[in-house]
Amino acid sequence: MNRFFPARPQGAELRWGVLGATAYISGHLLPAIAATDGCAVAAVASRPRHHARALEVAKPYGATAHQDYAALIADPDLDVVYIALPNTDHVEWTVRALAAGKHVLVEKPMAMSEEGVGRIEQAADAASRLAMEAFMYRCHPQQQRAAALLASDAVGELRLVRAAFAFEIPSGSGNIRLDAALGGGATWDVGCYAIDVPQLFFGRAPDRVGARFFRRTGLAVETSATGWMDFGGGRAAVLDYSIDYGPRAWYELQGTRGTITVHNAWAMAGENGVVTVRTADGVRTETVPADNHYQGQVAAFARAVAEGRPTPCPLVDSRRAARVGAALVRSAAAGGAAVATADGLDGPTPAVTVPA
Ligand SMILES: NC(=O)c1ccc[n+]([C@@H]2O[C@H](COP(=O)([O-])OP(=O)(O)OC[C@H]3O[C@@H](n4cnc5c(N)ncnc54)[C@H](OP(=O)(O)O)[C@@H]3O)[C@@H](O)[C@H]2O)c1
Repeated sequence: MNRFFPARPQGAELRWGVLGATAYISGHLLPAIAATDGCAVAAVASRPRHHARALEVAKPYGATAHQDYAALIADPDLDVVYIALPNTDHVEWTVRALAAGKHVLVEKPMAMSEEGVGRIEQAADAASRLAMEAFMYRCHPQQQRAAALLASDAVGELRLVRAAFAFEIPSGSGNIRLDAALGGGATWDVGCYAIDVPQLFFGRAPDRVGARFFRRTGLAVETSATGWMDFGGGRAAVLDYSIDYGPRAWYELQGTRGTITVHNAWAMAGENGVVTVRTADGVRTETVPADNHYQGQVAAFARAVAEGRPTPCPLVDSRRAARVGAALVRSAAAGGAAVATADGLDGPTPAVTVPA
């Protein structure tokens, strides 16, 4: 049953508006919306001083360019709001858009605290609207391939997940990821992906976690980190993430009889996935054909709204990601001490079976 009321009329177009006229929005998201059946780019908003940017981004789609964010979420012509603002603005604008009757797809991290995800969940329930975190990587077929290999017993029982994500952001670049006041730092930018992967494959939150952070001279945010998660019963994860290092986008599922390695885990649109299986019998590498997972994410969101299908990123997973991210921050502040993270949220994680 579709819990989002009023149900959309069969075949009606889902009209999307976007907060923030960023390079990522014009380069990846809007083309993905425009290419998805039943979806249309209808509006873009920038802050008033950047209205010219909104006009430029909206123009190729014949979309409305709003003068500010509040005007866009009040636009009765829209069904969905996509939020691509600095991390500190995600919860506020998601809650406001839900209260205005819009479905919301919000950039990662949905929130930097579990309390923030809880506020969003409440607002979504109150408005009978969908809220989802934009972990687009979950919609790349290489994730389904890795999950299928694991489920087929190709490497035995999963015991350890290793995940690493890094790329360099130069000091002085003015990037929001270097600004503590805007929710910057490696944990909430690249770390949130590495945090999500072990929870995706173990299907639950860890019992406890720990981390050490490193900070580039002259910056107020952590720029590199190493961390661990304890899932109990001898199951664990180790992660590293950084905005200091050269590129890395990789995870490995260590089973009792071998490993599945995903070499380009946070691929950009159009990049192939590469998956290796290593056991005592040998090493086999597969290419998973390039797929636009931004479009896959838009399509999965649209199906969830129209048909009440499960989303690739359920809110319980956003709670887990926010809880663990915040716990890693607390652990690092305490010199790497273990921080408890489990509190009975455990439940099925349907994300590795994204609806077709
Ligand atoms: N999934 C992905 O592949 C992906 C890729 C890139 C980014 N992201 C996510 O998208 C979000 C934005 O990242 P970005 O790289 O696109 O950032 P960005 O290029 O700096 O854009 C952020 C936008 O936020 C708006 N904004 C509002 N208040 C602001 C403030 N005080 N300072 C700066 N900008 C402000 C601006 O839009 P206006 O000036 O138009 O109002 C700005 O263009 C982040 O949460 C990030 O994690 C995700």
